[in-house]
Amino acid sequence: MSYRGSYTSAAITTAGLAGGAYIAYHLYKEFQKPKLPEQWTQAGTLKNMYAYPIKSCGPVVMNKAECSILGLKSGWLRDRVLMVVDDKMNFITARAYPELLLVHPSVNGSVLTLNHCDLESLSVNLAEVVALQAPKTATVWTVPVPVYDCGWEAAEWFSRLLNRSTTSFRLVYYASQNSRGLRSSTNKIYKFTKNDTGALPDEVPFNLINEASVDELNSRLEDKVTHRNFRPNFVLDGASLKAFDEDNWKFVKIGDNIFEIIKPCTRCILTTIDPETGVRHTKAEPLETLKSYRQIENPEVRKSAGNSPRMGIQMALRSGPGGFVSLNDPVYFA
Ligand SMILES: *[C@@H]1O[C@H](CO)[C@@H](O)[C@H](O)[C@H]1NC(C)=O
Ligand SMILES: *[C@@H]1O[C@H](CO)[C@@H](O)[C@H](O)[C@H]1NC(C)=O
Ligand SMILES: *[C@@H]1O[C@H](CO)[C@@H](O)[C@H](O)[C@H]1NC(C)=O
Repeated sequence: MSYRGSYTSAAITTAGLAGGAYIAYHLYKEFQKPKLPEQWTQAGTLKNMYAYPIKSCGPVVMNKAECSILGLKSGWLRDRVLMVVDDKMNFITARAYPELLLVHPSVNGSVLTLNHCDLESLSVNLAEVVALQAPKTATVWTVPVPVYDCGWEAAEWFSRLLNRSTTSFRLVYYASQNSRGLRSSTNKIYKFTKNDTGALPDEVPFNLINEASVDELNSRLEDKVTHRNFRPNFVLDGASLKAFDEDNWKFVKIGDNIFEIIKPCTRCILTTIDPETGVRHTKAEPLETLKSYRQIENPEVRKSAGNSPRMGIQMALRSGPGGFVSLNDPVYFA
């Protein structure tokens, strides 16, 4: 990670002279920040944008969104701020419950509506969920997170969807404006800051995929996939882009928003479940093919990633929050 060796030198005005400790503190803070690139190369444009309000459930297509520390946002529509938990308040995902992928949430004002072809739609007013209760603690990847419970109707809806006999599952809503805590193992290799974990995603608040990489993968597959198998937030497309160009980038800029690439996205069996049907591929494709040529080579990184192949990049916001991204925005890399 040599680029992390180049840090900004602190530019500190000492007006007011609050004392050496103050200056030292700010020098320290500045020293922590990676230097943002000044030279950018255009890679293409933003072709698709998605938020997944409920972890492991279907996407909501976005045309314009705000970039927040916790991910894409448009009013109450935010990326991965809800999840389904079991009776021990531990998260569940489509890896074990593929049916979740066929839940298509929509958000209108503060009202979240759950849609699935076999069930009657159900609406939950998130503003009421927030106003009426004190947060409880749930767990995602062993990390405790504060959540609001979305009520018994949503609990019953998901329990019927996944089991149809007992009320074993509940829908919960992330109850913090800050990123969730880091997993203790996370920072052995990658340098996450405390702003880089998002609300409830697996790893980071922003994921980008290059359409040229999906095309290249498809050229090796009998059963074709789409970028939707990889659940990206951003889909990048451009005539000059080659497959896996993104492997060598350090930063990405979309519109005026700058993202640092924290790590490659290492892929699991979720990619082998058809996002339109919820059916698992009998030969575990495209994962098996990806494993044949996209495994991590760096031995230290390989220790934690195992044989999970890389596809797409995991990013965190480095420009200030509140900037907008829109479809067709130019996408740059450095
Ligand atoms: C959104 O909610 C408003 C107010 O309840 C309603 O008038 C409007 O029809 C809803 N829009 C959609 C797309 O459902
Ligand atoms: C449904 O619930 C029953 C009873 O709790 C349990 O034995 C079974 O494993 C559950 N099935 C699924 C798909 O979760
Ligand atoms: C986290 O984000 C907040 C809000 O933008 C910012 O004030 C703070 O400096 C950030 N912290 C780090 C460690 O980047």
